[in-house]
Amino acid sequence: MDINLSQKERMLLEDQKSHEQLCIEKYTNYGNQAKDTQLKEICKANENVERSHLNSINQLLSGSIPQMNQQQNQNSTQNVNSTQSAGPSLSDKDMCTDLLMTEKYVSGTYDTTIFEFRDTRVRDVLNHIQKEEQKHGEAIFQYMESKGMYTVQ
Ligand SMILES: [Fe+2]
Ligand SMILES: [Fe+2]
Repeated sequence: MDINLSQKERMLLEDQKSHEQLCIEKYTNYGNQAKDTQLKEICKANENVERSHLNSINQLLSGSIPQMNQQQNQNSTQNVNSTQSAGPSLSDKDMCTDLLMTEKYVSGTYDTTIFEFRDTRVRDVLNHIQKEEQKHGEAIFQYMESKGMYTVQ
């Protein structure tokens, strides 16, 4: 055991865990539904990073500090339901807007979570993940802008 989590720290990590699971589901489903190949690729790439985030959060919850530089190529064995829902399909633009909103929200919750942690090593892990969430948002924003889906004011 590397770390001893307080009740509050554990609860915050459980929240982040559910956010990561939802991110994986969204990227999996939208990657399948997207009409544009480039958007499919962005979804696939981000999905893989979200899986590494889920791994890291699970490691923290089990009391150990994940090695961030080894996270990149690690494939999660976590089983996430990836079946496509039967609802009405969204346009590529709607999916991008939802993904951007999701990343913005998740980045914000990491920020709040970081401030509650006592252990610097955990803060560093969470900070690393938050930075990657911002990169996901950036990739989606740049895609949207290049396709004329996002009007900069
Ligand atoms: Fe994530
Ligand atoms: Fe993300």
